[in-house]
Amino acid sequence: MKKKLLLAIPVVAVAIQLIPAPAKTNPPIDPARTFATVMKPPPDVQAVLQRACADCHSNETKWPWYADIAPISWPVRKHVVDGRKHLNLSEWLKPGETKFSDWSQLEDIGKAVLDKSMPLYGYDWMHAEAKLTAVEREAIAKWADSAIGGPK
Ligand code: HEC
Repeated sequence: MKKKLLLAIPVVAVAIQLIPAPAKTNPPIDPARTFATVMKPPPDVQAVLQRACADCHSNETKWPWYADIAPISWPVRKHVVDGRKHLNLSEWLKPGETKFSDWSQLEDIGKAVLDKSMPLYGYDWMHAEAKLTAVEREAIAKWADSAIGGPK
């Protein structure tokens, strides 16, 4: 009985690879519509967002090897799909939009870094570079706050 159960483990491990997960995509980027182009953030802010947020909040996801191995792949891929839906640095302007006006996005970024809800819990286990210092969190929040409403 025990032996049969042990044999079942690899069978199940292989079988779950066949369960479809959300696709691993990196849609094309229109440079005119990116966060960096539209908001012109200071280089330190841009660098931190790129380093700690872009995997889930842009179309430049660096897909890790475990994004191909179920069941870890399921939450990893879902986080990217959901992350892009909430905030996409590659699609800061929607198609056809010429001016940014969704300022609540900047408020949300400031809040998320200050309350430490972002980067998403657990992301830094495999991405040490995503650990943000207090100074980095403050810098992002301060800039985001000052950028609300557009250039002054
Ligand atoms: C591992 C993936 C991942 C990383 C990395 C990540 N996020 Fe998120 N983020 C998500 C997901 C998933 C959501 C969707 C909402 C949720 O599940 O909390 C989200 C939601 C958000 C939201 C919207 C929150 C709201 O209240 O609607 C903001 C703002 C945000 N993230 C900012 C950031 C910032 C800034 C960084 C980098 C410092 C970052 N995220 C890094 C996955 C991620």
